Amino acid sequence: MQKITIAIDGFSSTGKSTIAKQLAKSLGYIYVDTGAMYRAVTLFAMQNNFFGEAIEDKKGLVASLSQINLKFVYNDELGFAEMYLNGENIEKQIRTLEVSKLVSKVAVIEEVRIKLVEMQQEMGKEKGVVMDGRDIGTVVFPDAEFKVFMTASPEKRAYRRYKELLDRGDDVNYDEVLKNVQERDYIDSNREVSPLKQAKDAIEFDNSDMGLKEQFDRMYNYALRVIEKQ
Ligand code: DC
Repeated sequence: MQKITIAIDGFSSTGKSTIAKQLAKSLGYIYVDTGAMYRAVTLFAMQNNFFGEAIEDKKGLVASLSQINLKFVYNDELGFAEMYLNGENIEKQIRTLEVSKLVSKVAVIEEVRIKLVEMQQEMGKEKGVVMDGRDIGTVVFPDAEFKVFMTASPEKRAYRRYKELLDRGDDVNYDEVLKNVQERDYIDSNREVSPLKQAKDAIEFDNSDMGLKEQFDRMYNYALRVIEKQ
């Protein structure tokens, strides 16, 4: 069967990656979490003191971009690929609130986006990928055959993220998580370079009141119909 490109964009914590991973698994496609790539560059920026609570050295980070080597390595046990930065597994470190707080600032840097978009296009050039992010259907793969734009209310998304962090054992406060979600929505939607916006040919998918199974079933059936039409 002909392979297609599936682009899933949307606000933070809409559950894009959960559905994208399941879809990729069921279709035998590669899953690419592009948010993890922006998070990895942010972690690099923090580790090298280019970015922090009171520092913002964009020039320094841009000059060091060539030192960043990113790779996804498939973990058989977990059933998905983990993010590696210069040979180190950083999957856990990139999911902290510290990284979440700074990532939007790093994701607005044009040079960072150019580097990551190029890598993403290379990873998806053979099709058969499910890629999630903010600009996949608009910039990375404007010709993707199946585009989804996921939304849910900020409160629902913050609650999901809050529970995730709590389950990991992090010391978190719901209001702080909600504030972070709202701030990221604002920055992601209003930045100059590749702002988050729904592609004209994307279907909108509001999952505020939908369980995982229902979300998956709908998306999977939709994807199959698109594939059959190729
Ligand atoms: O999906 P996520 O929350 O892990 O993404 C982290 C940040 O990276 C998010 O605030 C926006 C940014 N991002 C982006 O600008 N473009 C993408 N394709 C993916 C993520």
